[in-house]
Amino acid sequence: MQQRRFVVLSIFTVIVTLAFIILTQEDDFAIIISEKGLLRQNESIPHFFHNEEDVKYEFLAYKKKPGWHFVKYPCNYQCNVSGVEVTVNYSTNPSDITGKDVVLFRTGPFELHEWEELQYYRTPGQIWIFVTQEPASIVPRLLPPKIYRHTTYNWSFTFHSTSDIYGAYGWYTPFSTKTTSSKLIRNWYQEKSEFAAWISSRHCEGLGWDRTRFVLDLRKHVPIDMYGKCGNLSLSRNDSMAEKVIQKYKFHLSLENSCCSEYLSEKFWNALQNWKSVPIVIGGTKEEYVRLAPPNSFIHADDFPSIEALARHLHTVATNEKVFNSYFEWHQKGTVDQLSFRFRHPVFKEGACKVVEKLQQLHTKYSEYTFDPYSTSWFGSCYKCGEHHWIQRYNFLWKRTIFQDDWQDNRTLYLLDGK
Ligand SMILES: *[C@@H]1O[C@H](CO)[C@@H](O)[C@H](O)[C@H]1NC(C)=O
Ligand SMILES: *[C@@H]1O[C@H](CO)[C@@H](O)[C@H](O)[C@H]1NC(C)=O
Ligand SMILES: *[C@@H]1O[C@H](CO)[C@@H](O)[C@H](O)[C@H]1NC(C)=O
Ligand SMILES: *[C@@H]1O[C@H](CO)[C@@H](O)[C@H](O)[C@H]1NC(C)=O
Ligand SMILES: *[C@@H]1O[C@H](CO)[C@@H](O)[C@H](O)[C@H]1NC(C)=O
Ligand SMILES: *[C@@H]1O[C@H](CO)[C@@H](O)[C@H](O)[C@H]1NC(C)=O
Ligand SMILES: *[C@@H]1O[C@H](CO)[C@@H](O)[C@H](O)[C@H]1NC(C)=O
Repeated sequence: MQQRRFVVLSIFTVIVTLAFIILTQEDDFAIIISEKGLLRQNESIPHFFHNEEDVKYEFLAYKKKPGWHFVKYPCNYQCNVSGVEVTVNYSTNPSDITGKDVVLFRTGPFELHEWEELQYYRTPGQIWIFVTQEPASIVPRLLPPKIYRHTTYNWSFTFHSTSDIYGAYGWYTPFSTKTTSSKLIRNWYQEKSEFAAWISSRHCEGLGWDRTRFVLDLRKHVPIDMYGKCGNLSLSRNDSMAEKVIQKYKFHLSLENSCCSEYLSEKFWNALQNWKSVPIVIGGTKEEYVRLAPPNSFIHADDFPSIEALARHLHTVATNEKVFNSYFEWHQKGTVDQLSFRFRHPVFKEGACKVVEKLQQLHTKYSEYTFDPYSTSWFGSCYKCGEHHWIQRYNFLWKRTIFQDDWQDNRTLYLLDGK
């Protein structure tokens, strides 16, 4: 997915009974903690507290450079939380962050001096949010220098369940009551005339691992139609027409660009929800798919001791109606949903209002808690793909794939030493 940056601006006003707590910092800034809990340096936020009825938050998307906008800035949103308004603007200038309630970071890289400037212009209490829908291994550009490891991001907004604001790509919900309606029973086997498909849009050379080579190798044993950039079949740009083609396949290769904890992207959820194929997966661990996906809905490549064994299993499933249909039994037990992009990105109303809900939980105190992007739930959660040697062979050396950029400090070492 393309990197985007943005700046967000928001104004914050608080209701009648403001609980002011005046603190004195080492540099003598006067700080106000509003009823809603955000700390402010009162001098730098002249527009606060003027309106006693409404609460206005100002978000700023801090961008590396202008351009590539999803929305037309500045955006004004009225959230469902009563009376809360949000303004989202962007900037490429560190000094613009002063006085904003929330600063959103989605792209880098930033040079050391830029991190320093951002820290300099930060308003005490301001919330910095690390935003990404990409796995940790491919967004090292958002990593602050290690000295700022515990003083940069207050919160994370990612697909990972440990993130402070959680936006999973998709999820499975079991039905609350046991449904045995025969209406749900369908012979999926009869509907599928083709074997397996792989759709790729970019990164044919691979990021964490060489998935194109994996597909080419598996293709020596089973038929795989390669659509998109890394293959030579093309799909209609019309979604409903593309879907008709893809739905004919028994299997879909849902190969993530890297193997990071809980990174189960739309490639996986689309296979289940829209394409109604059995996904063949490499990405998260088996345990994660078991935990997050519908029961018996996928084939985890790492379950097999060799590529031949995987191929044999695919043949068995593809030629046995009963076995094949067993991968669809979950449709009678629950349902899969996907979260629209708008809920996973705080420049849109839906995403911004999720941030607002979280801000509303900050009461009269701020915490020293900050999201540590170096921790085991984030950068420390990426691993080599596969437990089996035959899959591990497809992994790249981490340094080569992840750090093409000229990061000259020791951030990289942590990752290289990682799992
Ligand atoms: C900021 O806070 C200080 C200390 O409480 C106070 O003296 C000053 O008047 C405040 N300034 C504004 C603009 O509210
Ligand atoms: C906002 O609240 C209304 C009424 O409670 C509800 O119907 C609507 O779905 C909510 N919208 C969002 C985006 O949450
Ligand atoms: C939004 O940001 C742009 C670019 O930084 C700036 O020119 C504009 O004045 C800002 N708008 C508001 C309402 O702050
Ligand atoms: C956000 O993190 C910074 C840096 O650690 C901290 O100074 C600030 O108080 C935090 N904000 C809140 C509201 O907790
Ligand atoms: C394109 O597809 C044809 C037919 O399947 C195949 O023979 C050919 O090698 C493919 N070309 C590439 C570049 O994959
Ligand atoms: C996609 O194709 C369907 C069926 O041919 C057609 O009805 C629909 O209008 C198309 N949609 C777009 C956006 O072109
Ligand atoms: C990185 O580590 C090496 C070896 O410990 C050290 O010589 C070098 O100065 C470090 N670089 C930075 C930018 O901290």
